[in-house]
Amino acid sequence: MTFSDTLKARIQTAQSVCVLTGAGISAESGVPTFRGEEGLWKKFKPEELANFQAFIRNPDLVWEWYAYRRKLIHEVKPNPGHVALVELERRVKEFTLVTQNVDNLHRRAGSQSVVELHGNIERSYCIECKTVVSELNLDALNRAPRCERCGGLIRPDVVWFGEMLPVEAFSKAEAAALRCDVFLCVGTSAVVYPAASLPITALDQGAYIVEINREYTDLSSRAHETLIGKAGEILPALLRQINFQQRGS
Ligand code: OAD
Repeated sequence: MTFSDTLKARIQTAQSVCVLTGAGISAESGVPTFRGEEGLWKKFKPEELANFQAFIRNPDLVWEWYAYRRKLIHEVKPNPGHVALVELERRVKEFTLVTQNVDNLHRRAGSQSVVELHGNIERSYCIECKTVVSELNLDALNRAPRCERCGGLIRPDVVWFGEMLPVEAFSKAEAAALRCDVFLCVGTSAVVYPAASLPITALDQGAYIVEINREYTDLSSRAHETLIGKAGEILPALLRQINFQQRGS
């Protein structure tokens, strides 16, 4: 695998790097992506389950889907793509990893500066009194649990369709997109807003935009480079070819 000199030089000399990841980076760990056949569970599309109305209509069904995803996530491991991003964080001066994933695999791999735009499947909270619950034994349940304090329904602490992103997380992500020299967009279909606006924010302020995906996306025509292939192969290869020793200060 070879990479352009421009890309290598940009990363080598970057003062600030921002990375946006999506489900594609976890695909090689065995976590299904959202769009396409593999995202279906019992014939439901994620959009049909990942919303508040669906939860109120049938909390047990939505809970069962999340319990299934949580179990699956506990059984898998971070892959070389996640690990390469840990290495990149160690090498560059300033680094922000913005993720749309709720699977916690970036933190498990060792990434420090992680901004979770869509929440984290490991946490849940009561829809009435907002008490946060993080015990993993919730996995065992195939029906939506009730809050011990007020009896309200417990939901996963993830952002559902039609819901606002956590304000603080999004402003951190936007600030990182506004100050970065290089923006990497890894394994995301780049169609879900406002996350999909981040590479455009970075592009507009002059950052070098690099997309890594198995296929072309809506972002491809605007990115400076699109690297087609698996994130778990491209990211480690890219890191191996950058000589961080020569970086300026
Ligand atoms: P998607 O499922 O929409 O897109 C996954 C992307 O990863 C696709 O563009 C694939 O081509 C690419 N891909 C798959 N395997 C890959 C690999 N090994 N290496 C590189 N790329 C690969 O997932 P997201 O873009 O993350 O939101 O979806 C964004 C949001 O929509 C999710 O966070 C979720 C979903 O609905 C909420 O739940 C709010």
